[in-house]
Amino acid sequence: MRTLQIGIVGGGWMGKVHAMSYRTARSAFGPEPASPVVAVMADVTMELAEAAARECGVDRAVADWRRIVEDPQIDIVDICTPNDMHLDVAMAAIAAGKHVYCEKPLANTVDAARQMADAAEQRGVTTMVGFNYIQNPVHGLARAAIARGELGEITYVKLIFNSDFMSDRNLQHTWRNDITRAGSGVIGDIGAHCLSYFYHLVDREIEEVLCDLRFVIPDHPAPLSAGAFRSGAQGDPNRRVPNTTDDMATVLFRLRGGGSGHMEMSRVSTGVRFDIGYEIIGTEGSLRYDYERINDLDLYRDSGPIERRGFTRMRMGPTDPRYAALLPVSALGLGYNDYKAMEAREMIEAVATGRPAYPDFRFGQRVQEVVDACQRSHAQHAWVKLPG
Ligand SMILES: NC(=O)c1ccc[n+]([C@@H]2O[C@H](COP(=O)([O-])OP(=O)(O)OC[C@H]3O[C@@H](n4cnc5c(N)ncnc54)[C@H](O)[C@@H]3O)[C@@H](O)[C@H]2O)c1
Repeated sequence: MRTLQIGIVGGGWMGKVHAMSYRTARSAFGPEPASPVVAVMADVTMELAEAAARECGVDRAVADWRRIVEDPQIDIVDICTPNDMHLDVAMAAIAAGKHVYCEKPLANTVDAARQMADAAEQRGVTTMVGFNYIQNPVHGLARAAIARGELGEITYVKLIFNSDFMSDRNLQHTWRNDITRAGSGVIGDIGAHCLSYFYHLVDREIEEVLCDLRFVIPDHPAPLSAGAFRSGAQGDPNRRVPNTTDDMATVLFRLRGGGSGHMEMSRVSTGVRFDIGYEIIGTEGSLRYDYERINDLDLYRDSGPIERRGFTRMRMGPTDPRYAALLPVSALGLGYNDYKAMEAREMIEAVATGRPAYPDFRFGQRVQEVVDACQRSHAQHAWVKLPG
């Protein structure tokens, strides 16, 4: 049996989720074409790295990610660090001939994202970005319906990701509140997921954007400890650190060749836990997805007797082989960690069989181009065209 050795860089929330995902993927999908083994985890100090490795059941911990990149036994470098580290770790890993699985957003600038995608293509290594929401097989139904032309011509796309996970002013200041580390506020953090829905579902280009960013929470208490963002972690009540990333954004966009849309994103919408979704309107029908009904998709076809027209609710189930690998019946439903396991499986299968993984670094660059255009639009108070 072939194994693929993985080194995870960053032992916070995503580091832990990725470590769990390889195990789930191995159990759900079996040992072929390769069995993933998380061999080592890195964090900024040995104490943090060892704590993460112990929690995740990983044998080895290192305090310097370069030890992972240099290790000839490692096949895949898995990047779960704050955004500002993605470029350095990925470029070093690619230069060492490693396959790279990187969390979103791919990088903090378009230039960095392009550099990463170019280098990986030149070196011939497999890459993947953690746009996990699109791994939910229910979006395959949506993508197929659009590709078959069931919606007719796309006229409007609405993309939403609102939450209140950062609305508490007493949460400690983290890298997500620091523009030099995060690279962007909500657009790169959660808007990147909206954009991954768009590029996954609609085979169209965004031509131009008009973006308004809002800064709601001016500062947060200084962190009391290093390491990962922990849900609900409170900071030092006597010292506050300025917030340099935005908390909310609204974006209007126009599609090349006709059609338009909007995105709304927030991390501080009090009372809204996780409102993620899309509506895709066409001349002959429409689609609606709402994360609160995570396995369902609503399709409307503008045909037949008018009094019989209405949305049909489709529920994802074991007719999809990836769903079936995890669950034998549709009613139980898959959740966030299951999509992460499907993502890990996608990377393992791609590396083991030598095919490209999806979505790859070039996809990540495409998303980054919109993030960048949104930031420029806000700064210029104007519509900004994307390249191409
Ligand atoms: N796909 C998703 O749904 C999703 C969800 C959350 C976060 N993310 C992305 O995952 C990445 C990590 O986010 P997170 O929520 O896990 O953050 P986190 O703060 O929970 O964890 C980050 C970890 O990286 C460590 N770290 C920082 N610098 C490092 C370095 N130089 N070397 C090694 N380790 C280092 C930190 O100490 C921390 O343990 C980010 O890029 C984020 O945007 C994606």
